[in-house]
Amino acid sequence: MSNKMWGGRFSTGPDAIMEEINVSIGFDQRLYAQDIAGSKAHAAMLSAQKIIAAKDAQKIQKGLDTILSEIEAGKFTFRRDLEDIHMNVESRLAELIGAPAGRLHTARSRNDQVATDFRLYVRDTIDTLDEQMADLQRALAEKALAHAGTVMPGFTHLQNAQPVTFGHHLMAYVEMLGRDRGRFADARKRLNESPLGSAALAGTSFPIDREATAAALGFDRPTANSLDGVSDRDFVMETLAAASICAVHLSRFAEEIVIWTSPAFGLVKLTDAFTTGSSIMPQKRNPDAAELARAKSGRIIGALTGILVVMKGLPLAYAKDTQEDKEGTFDALSALSLVIAAIAGMVRDMEPEATRMKAAAGQGYATATDLADWLVRTLNIPFREAHHVTGRIVALASERGVPLHRLSLEEMQGVEKRITQDVFSVLSVTNSVRSRTSYGGTAPARVRQQARRWLKKLGPA
Ligand code: ARG
Repeated sequence: MSNKMWGGRFSTGPDAIMEEINVSIGFDQRLYAQDIAGSKAHAAMLSAQKIIAAKDAQKIQKGLDTILSEIEAGKFTFRRDLEDIHMNVESRLAELIGAPAGRLHTARSRNDQVATDFRLYVRDTIDTLDEQMADLQRALAEKALAHAGTVMPGFTHLQNAQPVTFGHHLMAYVEMLGRDRGRFADARKRLNESPLGSAALAGTSFPIDREATAAALGFDRPTANSLDGVSDRDFVMETLAAASICAVHLSRFAEEIVIWTSPAFGLVKLTDAFTTGSSIMPQKRNPDAAELARAKSGRIIGALTGILVVMKGLPLAYAKDTQEDKEGTFDALSALSLVIAAIAGMVRDMEPEATRMKAAAGQGYATATDLADWLVRTLNIPFREAHHVTGRIVALASERGVPLHRLSLEEMQGVEKRITQDVFSVLSVTNSVRSRTSYGGTAPARVRQQARRWLKKLGPA
C-alpha cells in the first residue's frame, strides 16, 4: 500500500529496507510534546489568519490534546509505516477528528516542523541542564567553603608543585561550570528563533503570521530566511560543542577523583554510596561512577563530531541527512545530564583525608617557591638568583633525605649565609597557602570569598 500522507504519486509501498533506513519514529517519538505544541500554535495561527475555519481549528486543538494525553498515558501506538512523529500524530488526528485533520498541514512542511520541534527540544534540554549545572556548582561551592583551609598538594605535571587548599581546587570547577553555562546560554539565545512557516524551503503563499507562532512557542522571533530556517542545524552543533566542553571539564574532574581515591594517593574518600566492589578482590573500592563520567565524554564528543560530519557538504535546503541529527544529540544530552548528576552526587559524598592531604602537600619540597620568595622579600635577592639558591638548598635536603623545614639553620646558611631563623615561618604548608592572598589565590580567606560570592550568586536550591 502506498503512503497515505504522500502516496498520491505512488502505486506501491516501500521496500522493507527502504522503510528500515527511513523510519525515525523509534527515536523521534521523544519530540511528541514539542510536535504537538508546534501543531497547536500553527493551527491557532491558521484560524486567526482565516486560512482555516475556526471550528476546524477547534477540532484540531481538541484532537491534539487527546493525542498528547494518549501518548503520556502510554496508550498511543506508534507506527513504523508512518515513518516519524509528525506523521504519526497527524494520522491519529485524522482517526480522531476526520477531515479537518487534513487542514493542519496547510502552509507547513515536515521540514519546518521538525526544525521547530528539535529547536524546542534542545531549548528545553538546555534549561534542564542549566539547573543541573547550577546544582553542581552549589555542591562544589558548599564543599569548598567547608574545606577552604584544608591543605592539599597542588600539582603541575602531576608532580607536587605548591600546596593549595581542597576548597580552592573545587572552586576551579565552579568557574569552569560558570563558563559552560554561559556557552549553553549563548547557544540558547541564538537557537531561539522559530523556523515554523519556512514551509518546505521557500516560504508559503498563504498569509501566515510567523510572529504569532514564534511568540506562542516562546521563540524570540521567526527565522529570517526560509532556506536557512529548514536546513540550519547550527543550534545542534553549538549545543553539542557546549556539551562537549562541559563533558571534558567533568571528565578531568572525574579523573582527579579516580586519582585522589586510589590508595596510592589516598587524598579523598567516597562512601559506599559511590563505590563499587570487585567480584574477586575483596579489598577493592572502585570509583566506577567517576570512571564512567570520564568515559561518557567520549560519546558526547562523538555526537558533536557526528553532526559536524553530517552537515559538512550538505547543500541547501533540507535533505534527509539531517534526520541523523537526533539520536546522537538525545544520547549525548542525556549522557551529560547523568554525568552532571553523578558528579554532583560524588561531590556531596566525598570527604578529604585531611591528615594525609596535608602530609602529601609537604612532599616533594612543595614549599621551595616560598623559600625563594622569602629570599627575594627579605634579602632583596633577584628572583632568578633566589631560585638558584633554593635549588641548592633543595638538593641538600634531598641528599640528607629530609624535608626543607628539617634542615638546620646552619645547613641553610652554608648555602646562603644571610638566611635567618625567620625563614622557617614560610616552610610549613599551612603558612604557604595562607600567604597566597593575591586575587584568585589559594589563601583560605580568598577561597572563602570565592565560595561565598558564588553561593550568593547561585541562590538557594
Ligand atoms: N523525520 C524527518 C526528520 O527528522 C522529518 C522531515 C522529513 N521531511 C521530508 N521531506 N522527508 O528530518
